Amino acid sequence: MCGIVGYIGNKDSKEILLRGLEKLEYRGYDSAGIAVADEQGIHVFKEKGRIAELRGIVDESVIAPIGIGHTRWATHGAPSQVNAHPHQSTKGRFTIVHNGVIENYAILKRDYLQGVEFKSDTDTEVIVQLIEKIVNEGLAVEAAFRKAISLLHGSYAIALLDEQDKNTIYVAKNKSPLLVGLGTDFNVVASDAMAMLQVTDQYVELMDKEVVIVTKEDVTIKKLDGQVVERAPYTAELDASDIEKGTYPHYMLKEIDEQPLVMRKIIQAYQNEQNELAIHKDVLEAMNEADRIYIIACGTSYHAGLVGKQFIEKWAKIPVEVHVASEFSYNMPLLSKKPLFIFISQSGETADSRAVLVQVKELGYKALTITNVPGSTLSREADYTLLLHAGPEIAVASTKAYTAQLAVLAILAAVTAEAKGIGLEFDLVPELAIVANAMEILCDDKEEMENIAREFLATTRNCFFIGRSLDFYVGLEGALKLKEISYIQAEGFAGGELKHGTMALIENNTPVIALATQGHVNLSIRGNVKEVVARGASPCIISMKGLETEEDRYVLPEVHETLAPLVSVIPLQLISYYAALHRDCDVDKPRNLAKSVTVE
Ligand code: M6R
Repeated sequence: MCGIVGYIGNKDSKEILLRGLEKLEYRGYDSAGIAVADEQGIHVFKEKGRIAELRGIVDESVIAPIGIGHTRWATHGAPSQVNAHPHQSTKGRFTIVHNGVIENYAILKRDYLQGVEFKSDTDTEVIVQLIEKIVNEGLAVEAAFRKAISLLHGSYAIALLDEQDKNTIYVAKNKSPLLVGLGTDFNVVASDAMAMLQVTDQYVELMDKEVVIVTKEDVTIKKLDGQVVERAPYTAELDASDIEKGTYPHYMLKEIDEQPLVMRKIIQAYQNEQNELAIHKDVLEAMNEADRIYIIACGTSYHAGLVGKQFIEKWAKIPVEVHVASEFSYNMPLLSKKPLFIFISQSGETADSRAVLVQVKELGYKALTITNVPGSTLSREADYTLLLHAGPEIAVASTKAYTAQLAVLAILAAVTAEAKGIGLEFDLVPELAIVANAMEILCDDKEEMENIAREFLATTRNCFFIGRSLDFYVGLEGALKLKEISYIQAEGFAGGELKHGTMALIENNTPVIALATQGHVNLSIRGNVKEVVARGASPCIISMKGLETEEDRYVLPEVHETLAPLVSVIPLQLISYYAALHRDCDVDKPRNLAKSVTVE
């Protein structure tokens, strides 16, 4: 979703900003822009489309040591050059970039900005006009900035330039992520550390409703009442090579291939000195005390939660409910007496999940976040965090984070069971090692996955995924993967549910991808396949060794049955990847989508 960068120092800012924006491309955007200030004034360059197009219109002759930049994912107003950020106040004194949604922008317009002519359809323009108005009324810029910010309702990460002071970037944040990066003789602003890793690995976290005055020598954090806040920087432990594609044509393929390695990293990260799986005692205590667990997540992370529920219920014997975050806030179920909330989020920044976290913390409940990003908002604001150790995931389609989520949930369930004295009839460490090997075999079989994609998905307009028990949940994830990157209408169903309505959509040659990895439902899912074949469907059965029959299109290496989702999802990821390639889709940056969904 939208991304912000800013630079103030001695170098020309244009290239630093553009490169920073390129690092934020993965979040998803539809237009981009930069504003840089030199002796002559502030120069704004913005364009609909990709950063490459923006590069084409930037005036190379402008050399400016201060600037801000933005990638926009439209919320208020269509994707267009006019709605792209930066936006300027009427007199052109102030220039702003903003992420988030200003919920009361219409009220602010009515109450404070009557008669002001707006150039764009964005909520953002209200902020910059408001600041100019308050300054015109006589307040100094910093005070006017704080006053304007205090009038905003909603989410925002903001960077502002003042044409009359080319030594300062004004920054503010509420609910949307924003960091300030520190350098020698320069400082930067970025939505995430990856964007500015090119110049620094030292960052200062910002809290909600803080403003920051950034000059090239200083960073001053203040509360909205002007009180100064001291905060030490931290080192962003990101390896720049982790965020490069290397020899891969797409991040998605690289990230699919990284899954065996991620499995092995997770096993190591969660082992103690005796090589036993271990989880921090506070987390175990919270798990033990809970009479019911509520898993809250969105998209792929929600699908991981559905599988995680099975791990926790089967092994640790704690009842679990899994909820889509965007529904939970508005439709909260009756809670148990001692609930524990588990938030699953690759990015740790998803606004829908964060809204629930804020709500349950207000109610006084404990929360655990399972995330890939240390220091992310969901991690900071929860009581406990378990990290995924998957390394940065750049492709919009989540792959390695999903299997990492499953592995961490499995470890959490198994260690909790152990702590409760519930004996499991298997040892999870060797079982996860077998999973890692199976993943490797599947990743090496790309040619076959490409064949399947060509055979079943080259020209189809829709596709169904069916499964029973755990396979149903993996089917949901397979369908999400396929639709988000190939734009094929794809849906996942419980095998037994198709005949209750959706079967009407089965026509001659409709592809139906069926998963058969669970012994106790093997015969039933095969019966469901027969039902769709009788109506003309083209079945593609993916089974697990030991359960296979001659009709199966692909047989997965055998792993522990409950861990099958970690393995059966890999062909689905690869098939989606090749289907998207065949259809000439932008695999890493699917249309209309964002990596980090930071608005509710
Ligand atoms: O960062 P999160 O895990 O909270 O993101 C949740 C969803 O937006 C995300 O999983 C989305 O569904 C993926 N793009 C799917 O591949």
